[in-house]
Amino acid sequence: MLAALCLGGSAAAQHWYDNAVIYEIYPRSFQDTNGDGIGDLNGITERLDYLKQLGVDAIWITPFYPSPNKDFGYDVSNYVDVAKDYGTLADWDKLVAEAKKRNIRVLVDFVLNHTSDQHPWFLESRSSRTNPKRDWYVWRSGGGPTEPPTHWTSIFGGYAWTWDAKTQQWYYHIFLPQQPDVNWRNPELRKAMYDVVRFWLDRGASGFRLDATPYLFEDSKYPDDPHPPPASRAGLMPYNSGRPENHEVLREMRAILDGYEGNPVMLGESVTATIADLRKVYGENYDEIQLPMDFLFADLKTLDAAKFKKQVDAAQLDLGKGTPVFFLSSHDHPRQWSVFGDGVHNDEIAKLTAALTLAQRGTVLLYYGEEIGMGTMPRAELKKAPIGEKRPVADIRDGERTPMQWDAGGNAGFSTGAPWLPVETDYRKYNVASEKRRADSIYSWYAGLLKLRHDNAAFREGEYVPLDAGNANVFAFGRRTVAGEAALIVLNPSGEEQKVRITGWPGGWPGFSKLLEASPAAKAPGGSGFSVAPFGVVIAGVR
Ligand code: NOJ
Ligand code: CA
Repeated sequence: MLAALCLGGSAAAQHWYDNAVIYEIYPRSFQDTNGDGIGDLNGITERLDYLKQLGVDAIWITPFYPSPNKDFGYDVSNYVDVAKDYGTLADWDKLVAEAKKRNIRVLVDFVLNHTSDQHPWFLESRSSRTNPKRDWYVWRSGGGPTEPPTHWTSIFGGYAWTWDAKTQQWYYHIFLPQQPDVNWRNPELRKAMYDVVRFWLDRGASGFRLDATPYLFEDSKYPDDPHPPPASRAGLMPYNSGRPENHEVLREMRAILDGYEGNPVMLGESVTATIADLRKVYGENYDEIQLPMDFLFADLKTLDAAKFKKQVDAAQLDLGKGTPVFFLSSHDHPRQWSVFGDGVHNDEIAKLTAALTLAQRGTVLLYYGEEIGMGTMPRAELKKAPIGEKRPVADIRDGERTPMQWDAGGNAGFSTGAPWLPVETDYRKYNVASEKRRADSIYSWYAGLLKLRHDNAAFREGEYVPLDAGNANVFAFGRRTVAGEAALIVLNPSGEEQKVRITGWPGGWPGFSKLLEASPAAKAPGGSGFSVAPFGVVIAGVR
């Protein structure tokens, strides 16, 4: 009993999502089925068996709504349809039905902070000051055409206000001018957004990834900022984010989800400055976002055992009953193979960062291609990629959005046509087909870890046990169920072999049962003191 009290993370998995691996798919780049060089929903359906075999529990598909693509789908012009590029609503229905057969849930990316400036709601809103939808967006007069209402900056650069010459007012946008923020204070807008939630739940979605959740409300006093921050730091200002009004909306949305069978989930793009702020995103009574993404962890960019421990301990120990959400790569983050790689040992390091997330208690997000060691396309290579109809704008994030590498054939098996973005040059080495054949590949390592999360009780339900490795270059932690099934995870993010002596196991060191996974291949350690290879990982059962 005493030992149980000493354990870390509090709540064992209760819902499907508490221990899920959610695989993020950038649909434009996953699988093209009609040869136009653009991935589509049917392509995802075709690859469901692959995802099942890998062992994912759910997929999150980034926006596939009709959109002028100023921000590749994050500028929505119709919330209740599928863009022609990606298919039809019937294709969506088929995808959900096929996913269900394989016990894979599908999450829709709900862009609820802003619409496209081409959305009919905004076209109406901007048509006149007296239009009934005027108040669905955030309009202010400021000091006329040259003086915005405040000097707040947009996350994408420039002022967060754009002047509308026709109606002689400014509208607010935390992102691009083509992404006007909606006004969540307006009850009709709110209702319209909740109808979107119901539309996708009725059509088989198992929940949502909620875009840009910190920004739903602005300070209604619109205080000026005499020292407007640069775009890179505009995201978390007290006047534009994390406002108390957010909670009410998220509670209302959660109540809608809770009215549906199967525990639909909200996975929040919940950027916060501190772990205490992240705790608040779950709601005081855990009745808001079930899975707020931990950006404090995701923003780790260096191989550093102490930083890993600090951020993991915080996520595991300081979020109350909340389920932590770990990820390192996304359509907004350069890929981890490149970020952490030293240019020589990238594959070993990719296995280490995989274990860093996948061995945790909580929900883990994988970004398509992470499991085969896809890298970020280098800037110089990206610069050569053509701009055209399929790729109307070059986005600084395109390097992490290149086509999925399925095999060593033409266009890496992504498309029979010219892909919208070129395939990475190293696809002949890093691709699904060849990595599935190799037991020591990155793919096989990921598949092994996902299997552990399903088959091994310590990884399925075990709480987090903070440990001391006796070596500042090493990060060690444990997992342990209430019934006592347990595992030890040791990560050596340094380039040298490291000796460890594990202490801090509740009740004293119990001894190893068997080696579960090791990179590079290793023998089971004999006791609590042993060596770990450079960039090595040891995962072992503990008696
Ligand atoms: C966050 C999304 O992840 C990002 O890709 C997008 O540009 C912004 N929100 C605006 O919607
Ligand atoms: Ca296509």
